[in-house]
Amino acid sequence: MKDVDYMSVAEDTLNRIKKGAFLTVKSEHGVNTMTIGWVTFGFIWNKPILMVAVRPSRHTFGIIEAAKDFTVTVPLGDLHKEIAFCGSKSGRDVDKFKACNLETIDGRQVDSPVIKTQGRHFECRIVYKSAMDPVLLDKGYESSFYPQKDYHTLYFGEILACYETD
Ligand SMILES: Cc1cc2nc3c(=O)[nH]c(=O)nc-3n(C[C@H](O)[C@H](O)[C@H](O)COP(=O)(O)O)c2cc1C
Repeated sequence: MKDVDYMSVAEDTLNRIKKGAFLTVKSEHGVNTMTIGWVTFGFIWNKPILMVAVRPSRHTFGIIEAAKDFTVTVPLGDLHKEIAFCGSKSGRDVDKFKACNLETIDGRQVDSPVIKTQGRHFECRIVYKSAMDPVLLDKGYESSFYPQKDYHTLYFGEILACYETD
């Protein structure tokens, strides 16, 4: 396991996340992982912050709503099959960890685990969340991204740990 300065790997991480990463969350409502493609990184409140966006239709939504934290695992090896599976099947219907043969490792600083794989992991404490207000959204984005009106909730996580595993 190797600690990583997240700023120095931010660009590489963003490029990899375009192909999909795992958002893993644990709360009293269970544990689940799903594929994400939309992430922002930056500094807010003088802290390194990673933001993820989850639609209310996701099983993950019910879990993250009750969670204190989440993790993001960016694969460094080829997990395109697992990324496709976890981005199309719901934890409501199938145990994705079992189905994909994905094990987890306990988070170092958070309750949510990380995916056990060759990957870069971000452990994030939820410090703010915001349900999107469609009234404030660009009309072009509204029609492109929200025909079902399932607007994302945005979760801002303070990055408590960033490391890579082989
Ligand atoms: C490449 C890719 C990126 C995705 N990014 C997101 C995302 O950022 N936010 C989101 O809510 N859903 C995203 N999805 C869709 C969810 O991963 C998908 O609906 C998943 O089945 C939800 O799982 P769950 O019901 O177990 O939470 C993405 C799917 C793919 C394939």
